Amino acid sequence: MAHFLLAWRGRPEALPVQQPVEFFMLIRDFQPADLPTLSEIDQECFPPGVSYSREELAAYIAHRATRTWVAEDKGSIVGFVVASREPVRVGHIITIDVLEGSRRQGTGTGLMKEAEDWARKAGLQLIYLETAEDNLAAHSFYATRGYRKVDKVDRYYSNGQAAWVMVKHLK
Ligand SMILES: CC(C)(COP(=O)(O)OP(=O)(O)OC[C@H]1O[C@@H](n2cnc3c(N)ncnc32)[C@H](O)[C@@H]1OP(=O)(O)O)[C@@H](O)C(=O)NCCC(=O)NCCS
Repeated sequence: MAHFLLAWRGRPEALPVQQPVEFFMLIRDFQPADLPTLSEIDQECFPPGVSYSREELAAYIAHRATRTWVAEDKGSIVGFVVASREPVRVGHIITIDVLEGSRRQGTGTGLMKEAEDWARKAGLQLIYLETAEDNLAAHSFYATRGYRKVDKVDRYYSNGQAAWVMVKHLK
């Protein structure tokens, strides 16, 4: 069955008619009331030592150089991305999380597009991120979006795991 993926930033009732719609994804800016849900999603998406505590996540989201977008499916939060701007023209994906039951439907792609569009508009030249050495799904996801492995950092995570640093040059 075909999927019709819509990343719509307006009010749901103002959505342009497009039939049939089997999957509706809304991407919107973070609101403070989202924090507990985002923290739960992060705990579900990553093992201990890789996931953030609620305090860490809150601190990243609150930082003035950071932007956070949330993906909603039928009114429920199913994923989010936190990105930051670093000196001089560099973007950093701090985390991207999609609930297991909502994966492979384009949610991660929609969130990354939002972050990359923001980075381009801000004049950033590249985006980098870290991902656990054994997170093959993430390696594949990022590779399809044009990210390339540039360096491996041993014992990057507090659980001792190594991380790949991946980079995408923005055009
Ligand atoms: C990585 C992650 C964000 C991807 O989110 P998603 O919503 O499933 O991604 P999309 O549906 O947009 O996938 C886009 C493409 O990426 C690739 N991809 C995504 N997940 C994949 C997987 N498990 N195995 C292989 N390729 C994968 C595919 O090419 C996919 O296209 P397709 O479904 O048409 O084949 C999600 O799996 C996740 O949240 N994982 C747990 C947290 C995590 O690892 N975050 C990233 C590390 S920092």
